[in-house]
Formats: sequence, C-alpha cells, structure tokens
Amino acid sequence: MAKLKTKIKAEPSLAQIGKLVAEYRGQKWALIPLFQVMQDEFGYIPPESIDLIAKALGLFPVQVQGVISFYAQLYTKPQGRNVVRVCRGTACHVRGGKTILKLAKQYLGLEEGETTPDYEYTLETVACIGVCALAPNIVIGTTTYGHMNPKKVAQLLGERKGRE
Ligand code: FES
Repeated sequence: MAKLKTKIKAEPSLAQIGKLVAEYRGQKWALIPLFQVMQDEFGYIPPESIDLIAKALGLFPVQVQGVISFYAQLYTKPQGRNVVRVCRGTACHVRGGKTILKLAKQYLGLEEGETTPDYEYTLETVACIGVCALAPNIVIGTTTYGHMNPKKVAQLLGERKGRE
C-alpha cells in the first residue's frame, strides 16, 4: 500500500478551541486563516466553535456558518487521517471512474462522505481536479494517483480490506 498521510487529529476541548480563537480576536479579515489553522490543528471545524469565532471576530454566527457552508474544503465533522477523493469529472467518468469509485467503496467499506469509525479514512468524490490526461484519478491527501485501474486501486486501498 502507498505511504499515506497519517497526521493524528485530536478531539479538541472547548478550552483548546477558545485558546486558538482568542489569537484572532477582533480580526474579521482572518476568518479563513482561522478556519485553516483550526482544520490543521483539529482536522475539522468543531460546530461548537462557531459561536466562539463569531463573538471573537465580531461577526454573526450565521455569517461564520455561511462561509463554512460555502467552501467544500471546510469540514464540521472529523475527517479520516487519509481523505480519499475519487474524481467524478467527465474525463475520469468516461475512462472508468465509476468502477474506480465502486472499488474504493468496497475496499474502504464506505459510501461517499463517510468516515471509518477509527477515523483512518474518509471517502469523497470531487469534480475535475485538472489533470484529465491522467484520468481516471484518485487523490489521497495531497497526492494524485493517475491512470487508475482495478489493480492499482487494490494496491492503494486493498490492504485495508485485508485488515477487516
Ligand atoms: S475529470 Fe478527473 S481530472 Fe478532470
């Protein structure tokens, strides 16, 4: 199996969230950087942080929630240490992307948007990632794996099936 990103994500306490948010007090412009730091630190944006962020930055909670909802890269649920994204763009689709997704679901035991109970993997689909010449593609963490076929999917994700 390929070497995957294995950053451990922590379940943050309110005190940890508050400490991080306090560093951005009064800085409305820093909402996105704060989200990025929070996701790097905790792996997601805890829903309980929304009111704290709004109060600290001088925004309404609905504004904070609205920005989170707008960006698909922002998560309010813990993500797996390895986020597996199968491209569902047209080029990948016509070159077998549907089969690649089906196999990824089988190997990981997940449907789209789901995370394994041990938070090892999250499975998502994405629109075209801009490397159609390599279609069909899977992205794991920040690494793109192109020209995927059933054998390569087995090499990338098959080991997980063997552990269950
Ligand atoms: S459609 Fe998959 S990379 Fe473009």
